[in-house]
Amino acid sequence: MNIYKDYRIKVIRKIHLKVTVIRFMDRIKTGIAGLDEMLNGGIPKGRHIALYGGPGAGKTSFAFEFLYHGAKTGENGLYITLEETEDDIVENMKSTFPMLADVSELIKSKKLEIVKPEKFELEEVANLLEDRITSNNVKRAVIDSSTMIRLSFKNENEYRQTLFEFLSLLRNLEVTTLTTVEANTAKKEEMKFDIEHFVMDGIINLYNLDREDRRIRALEIFKMRGTDHSRDLVPFKVTPSGVKVYVGERVF
Ligand SMILES: Nc1ncnc2c1ncn2[C@@H]1O[C@H](COP(=O)(O)OP(=O)(O)O)[C@@H](O)[C@H]1O
Ligand SMILES: [Mg+2]
Repeated sequence: MNIYKDYRIKVIRKIHLKVTVIRFMDRIKTGIAGLDEMLNGGIPKGRHIALYGGPGAGKTSFAFEFLYHGAKTGENGLYITLEETEDDIVENMKSTFPMLADVSELIKSKKLEIVKPEKFELEEVANLLEDRITSNNVKRAVIDSSTMIRLSFKNENEYRQTLFEFLSLLRNLEVTTLTTVEANTAKKEEMKFDIEHFVMDGIINLYNLDREDRRIRALEIFKMRGTDHSRDLVPFKVTPSGVKVYVGERVF
């Protein structure tokens, strides 16, 4: 047997496979007006994205709308809440987004599940995800927030290592996830790199920018493995009919 030839065929096959994967990369539409445009069509399927921002930045609203849109388009969603109770999430989201009136029906029909785990540990979250992906065909998941999980680790290295292993496990489960991460500042210039910035496939930063007499919401796609994307700082609003990202507008 010609080992060299055999090896070459393997390499060519590998390259061909890679090209095919890139060409046919599926995307998950977030459903958030303007954001999918910034992402050239949506989040690459099966990737794991962090939503990073200070308190009140809009992380929960963003994450919920991502699941809502999925539930409406045949992709079941799982919201894992580590801070608020299930009832609080539903009540808050119903009052934030009164136009999304059928939230209760989606929950009743299990197209959208909200679950609070008993223990705030990554292992518990992984088991929950695995169970619902198998039993309810979940395609989109939210973990709100990783900051609560981080607190269960004695040191940062241990957290980084376990988060890395957790993401490796998720890659076999064909699910796309959004994980919220609490930044301890809303100021853009004071934001620092956290562990999630290095480990996750993508980072969307949400800001509450300080202006003389007001605050302005703005976001940027800081990183998104596997796709080109807008690098602009773009204003957004939380409105009764959903989050609106004003692509093409400047932040003043
Ligand atoms: N209907 C609404 N219209 C405009 N802004 C809203 C509405 N409902 C909530 N908000 C704003 O959204 C903020 C909450 O966003 P949330 O997604 O909970 O942020 P985070 O999860 O980052 O703390 C509130 O502090 C409020 O300013
Ligand atoms: Mg929140």
